[in-house]
Amino acid sequence: MNQYPDSPLLQHIADDLAEQGWSLQSVFLSAELTEALADECRARAQAGQLAAASVGRGEGQAVREGIRGDRIQWLEPGQSPACDRYLALMDALRQELNRSLYLGLEDFECHFALYPPGAFYQKHLDRFRDDDRRSVSAVLYLNPSWLPQQGGALRLYLADGSARDIAPLGGSLVVFLSGEFPHEVLPAERERLSLTGWFRRRGDAPL
Ligand code: OGA
Ligand code: MN
Repeated sequence: MNQYPDSPLLQHIADDLAEQGWSLQSVFLSAELTEALADECRARAQAGQLAAASVGRGEGQAVREGIRGDRIQWLEPGQSPACDRYLALMDALRQELNRSLYLGLEDFECHFALYPPGAFYQKHLDRFRDDDRRSVSAVLYLNPSWLPQQGGALRLYLADGSARDIAPLGGSLVVFLSGEFPHEVLPAERERLSLTGWFRRRGDAPL
């Protein structure tokens, strides 16, 4: 069930994706839900549940801190009210993108990510060579009162050759077409928390 029918915010994101392939909503999530998710991320980190993120897939999968230094844990439905609220919101966005852009997005996967001070993620595309189901990336930031001079920007490389730096300010959401925008996470001087996710299309079924 869609709990957010006709939400102008979700429609804005769809319009931005149609026009330029990416969207930044600097006031997307309430301070209350953002804080609950940040608390949950820190609690999971303290309980030792976040694991070093890996790069690649299948046999090529490996932890490479020279490429990415974040620690992550995947979200599952039913883990906490805050997470379920976020998943419901992302499902509403998925339905809006399907309705207005016919993207055929089938599901959403996401993980908490914690970058310790100094950690980064080198320039990459959110798509595996052997699996192109990830279609739209969505990153929600969980850091209260982030200042640009603290670093930690998401640097998005645009088609015209320019780049856009987005500060990971709590409550803001950035959405972009996964296969079209190389991007990187710059190192920060403080801990950097986010919820990073991907809307996926259906994989090709065998005949
Ligand atoms: C990723 C990623 C961006 C960010 O996890 O693939 O690019 O701003 N994250 O955290
Ligand atoms: Mn990425």
